[in-house]
Amino acid sequence: MITGKTALVGIVGDPVEHSLSPPMHNAAFQHLKLDYVYVPFHVPAKNLENAIKGAKDMGIKGLNITIPHKTAVIRYLDEVDQAAQLIGAVNTLKFTEDKIKGYNTDGVGAVKAIEEIITVKDKKVVIMGAGGAARAVAFQLILNGIQKLSIANRTPEKAEQLARDIKSKLEFSSRVVNFSELELTSTDILINTTPVGMHPHEDQKPLVTSEMMHPELVVNDIIYNPLRTGFLKEAEDSGAKTVNGTKMLVYQGVEAFRIWTGVNPPVEVFTEALMETLGK
Ligand SMILES: NC(=O)c1ccc[n+]([C@@H]2O[C@H](COP(=O)([O-])OP(=O)(O)OC[C@H]3O[C@@H](n4cnc5c(N)ncnc54)[C@H](OP(=O)(O)O)[C@@H]3O)[C@@H](O)[C@H]2O)c1
Repeated sequence: MITGKTALVGIVGDPVEHSLSPPMHNAAFQHLKLDYVYVPFHVPAKNLENAIKGAKDMGIKGLNITIPHKTAVIRYLDEVDQAAQLIGAVNTLKFTEDKIKGYNTDGVGAVKAIEEIITVKDKKVVIMGAGGAARAVAFQLILNGIQKLSIANRTPEKAEQLARDIKSKLEFSSRVVNFSELELTSTDILINTTPVGMHPHEDQKPLVTSEMMHPELVVNDIIYNPLRTGFLKEAEDSGAKTVNGTKMLVYQGVEAFRIWTGVNPPVEVFTEALMETLGK
């Protein structure tokens, strides 16, 4: 029941009505009997500044920030944590009496998802794609101590730009490779951050097929619709272990929940709520 004491958190985006975050967070608040409620706020770019300042003035405890505001929101914050600064995007805000602090839990979410199977420290990783999600995943993997990073992207210049940015901020050298010259024999972790194979384009040919993979490989597709993408089916055919995109979505939410409440919510409650919302 919502009372005068209920704390408010939510998500700001444009559009926001398809967000899968409200059911996950509200399920965890109910499960843990925490007096919080999570609601969506549809905020167009022209209202972002007023929305963030108003949220602080109204005593909102925290917000998730989604497309298209993840970078624009930074100018309204008092403090930005290390990973979010490196990535250049914020997806979680925590409001305290005197300040608004921004975090990026997307990269943490991706790493935690993969770490259900394998620790990323000292591993050799290939990332496909060089967009917003790839940036978050790449920087967090490096913060978590991977040994080697290769980036393959349809537009090589964008991969080179990401590699340069990583080098200038973290002194870490990544390799930019063409899909045609990808060689995965010594790779430990392969991650797809492109939308290839995402609903309604399930039939799109995966960028990497089973003949190139091997049973020791951990393969992560961050697409969550469908749950088993063509790319993950190729991975299964090769005997590789797979991680689907719902895991990153769940763990980025779990991390935001922890930032707001100081409590680690049960991952199963998030997962169950997500699967129910996705109709699985
Ligand atoms: N599971 C999660 O929690 C989660 C979180 C965030 C995002 N995602 C998913 O991640 C995907 C990417 O999101 P984003 O924000 O990074 O998007 P983005 O910034 O637009 O980047 C898209 C990347 O995919 C590449 N790409 C697009 N279409 C391609 C194609 N047909 N063939 C080869 N490469 C292609 C682009 O290459 P170019 O540079 O050549 O354009 C670019 O590198 C989406 O499917 C999104 O749903 C999942």
